[in-house]
Amino acid sequence: MSLTTFPGGVDPSPANASITKVTMPALADRKRQGKPISALTAYDYATSRIADEAGIDLILVGDSLAMVVLGHENTLSITVDEMLHHTRAVHRAVRRALVVADMPFGSYHGAVAEGLANAIRFIKEAGAEAVKIEGARIELVRALTDAEIPVVGHLGLTPQSIHRMGGYRVQARTAETVLRLRADAQALADAGAGVLVLEGVPREVAAAITADLPIPTIGIGAGPDCDGQILVFHDLLNLTFAPPAKFVRRYADAGSIMRSAIEHYRDDVEQRAFPSDEESYHLPEPVRRVLEEKDAAQHKTGTLRKI
Ligand code: KIV
Repeated sequence: MSLTTFPGGVDPSPANASITKVTMPALADRKRQGKPISALTAYDYATSRIADEAGIDLILVGDSLAMVVLGHENTLSITVDEMLHHTRAVHRAVRRALVVADMPFGSYHGAVAEGLANAIRFIKEAGAEAVKIEGARIELVRALTDAEIPVVGHLGLTPQSIHRMGGYRVQARTAETVLRLRADAQALADAGAGVLVLEGVPREVAAAITADLPIPTIGIGAGPDCDGQILVFHDLLNLTFAPPAKFVRRYADAGSIMRSAIEHYRDDVEQRAFPSDEESYHLPEPVRRVLEEKDAAQHKTGTLRKI
């Protein structure tokens, strides 16, 4: 493909003429320029399209979809095939944002070669532009980087470690664990990770790591000093069914809007107020006339027969 014809690798059709694709190097530039990065999870065509059109820089097809979309208790059971299915839908919708796919639990926890093979599937079969992995898996990050696969690291509260952590708890609260987290963050960046998600860590720790690293940090429950922020789509819009975590800001109550719209629809159906005549299709006038004439003729014959 010619880079002259396709600047930034984006479809050059008129609809996309003014779009500058967000890339991993572009995110690194944003850190250097001190311009915050907006990130959001999304899992399907409609919501990712809205997020992309709203100007979100990075869309993560997070394994949180196991919980917020599929209703599982935690993220552990989601499979590579399920994550691929959702990543494809997001890829079809997004024009500008960087699409990052979350590697699910078990898909990169064994041999490096297996992690690499699974990551390649996300790039090749689903259109992801980077993969996210939890924990300080330095050898794997090196292998992915060598294979030209951009990596987003994820440290702190890593939901795939729920059983080891004993629940979703804020991490790095002692001097020892803070120092380990800072060393892990540095090691991930040295191994080639291009972005680092910091989840559920004290603000001071996230600020120190953000200052330490040349790569952007994206915080969730990590305070305002990161280079960017990410939220789960369903948290931002109140599409969840439990009280939100402390770090969640609800920007709209889409849950209430949807519930009341659906109740209104149900009432209209029950009262035969939906659909109206304007919402119905009609026969073309000549066809209607022919049918009416036929009906009238049949009616007449029926009447004569009775006589
Ligand atoms: O799966 C997810 O949604 C995530 C974000 C919380 C960073 O990993």
